[in-house]
Amino acid sequence: MLIEVDMQHVSRFLGKQELAAMAPQVQSAHEQLHTGAGLGSEFTGWLDLPIRYDREEFARIQAAAARIQADSDILIVIGIGGSYLGARAAVEFLHSDAYNALPKSTPDIYFAGNTLSPSALAELVLLCKGKRVSLNMISKSGTTTEPAVAFRVLKEMLEEQCGKEEARRRIICTTDRCKGTLKQLADREGYETFVVPDDVGGRYSVLTAVGLLPIAVSGADISALMEGAVWARETYRHADVQANACYQYAAVRNLLYRKGKEIELLVSYEPRFAMMSEWWKQLYGESEGKDQKGIFPASAVFSTDLHSMGQYIQDGRRHLFETIVLVEKPAREITLAEEQEDIDGLNFLAGKTLSYVNHRAFEGTALAHEDGGVPSLVIRVEDFSERSLGALIYFFEKACAVSGYLLGVNPFDQPGVESYKKNMFALLGKPGYETQRQALQARLQKNCVPAKPADG
Ligand code: PA5
Repeated sequence: MLIEVDMQHVSRFLGKQELAAMAPQVQSAHEQLHTGAGLGSEFTGWLDLPIRYDREEFARIQAAAARIQADSDILIVIGIGGSYLGARAAVEFLHSDAYNALPKSTPDIYFAGNTLSPSALAELVLLCKGKRVSLNMISKSGTTTEPAVAFRVLKEMLEEQCGKEEARRRIICTTDRCKGTLKQLADREGYETFVVPDDVGGRYSVLTAVGLLPIAVSGADISALMEGAVWARETYRHADVQANACYQYAAVRNLLYRKGKEIELLVSYEPRFAMMSEWWKQLYGESEGKDQKGIFPASAVFSTDLHSMGQYIQDGRRHLFETIVLVEKPAREITLAEEQEDIDGLNFLAGKTLSYVNHRAFEGTALAHEDGGVPSLVIRVEDFSERSLGALIYFFEKACAVSGYLLGVNPFDQPGVESYKKNMFALLGKPGYETQRQALQARLQKNCVPAKPADG
């Protein structure tokens, strides 16, 4: 089993029949998803992606990755939200959160265009000095401001470094098959392009070229990643909640939400999982948080955060539950040695591995949190392999879609994301936003409280 869901620390918070009673609702959510009758069904292409992807493009991705590995010291992946989180999460899960710093034969991978910070972009330009750089610009719409701004700066840097012709060879765009500014630009400049399929939304796109190219550049086996997703697609195909662990996760989190557990803390015991949590937060936050409903997705890495958030989790307001992702086999191991003088008093752990200690921390914490009124769902993942990751991605995607239908929202749109963009464009003076600009500026001035003059 690549993935198992363990209800041991949640069952006391649920009535005996509660999960079984969810069966008709889960069945209906399953049908909405699989028959295309549900809201947003035009974005369910990810469901069959593991078996129905463009093989020719997949081979081109592998060839492009091999070329970048051979001729680049750095790959910069430019994108925001669903156009970068999955790739970054996968690279860190499969290799390490210290991937760039560790000795390796593959290029460093940096992520840009996910912030408007001048410092971050300028520092990245500094890092690229004297290095052979390739760019992968990713934007489904081709119009998102943050990556577009970063691309403008980094493209100029690259052209200065190696000339326009060579830069052309080093730029790859992942975008819509035929529309959008980025596609137009790529065609005009002759950049190689990969496709974000029409029926796959940004946050469900990690198993398309969006994620696959950067992941392949890191040296990971993307065929094995897809195999893991195939396993999950097959394993989680049943409509019956009792026979489908993926749907059990969706159903239980929905039941807990109904009981007032409005915050879900995705917990791991591995720092290399932290970006997976960021990816998961976008997936669930953007899919469920609408119509004034939805579980608030948060995350923590234990035991690190037990020393910052532990007090609140154990003893604060009782509105949260945990989903703990436990990776059974660590990527590397350390065994504690015996010391002659037991000054630190740790000889009782001599001969024990650090994963043994980490595991006891998990058990102790889960029991303590259970006693403190915090239910924990445990998702056990076999290891840090590509197969496990592919399975976990698909598991979370499918559970998310079903969770959305259980909640009565469209899990595939994100209308709320537009609001900040409209205001930002207006305040930046983008043509077409003049009226909004005046109104916003007036509001900003009215809200500004002048500082009181200092005494004397
Ligand atoms: O999930 C989503 O749709 C968003 O997070 C997008 O991925 C993000 O806004 C970036 O959009 P685009 O790829 O069009 O630049």
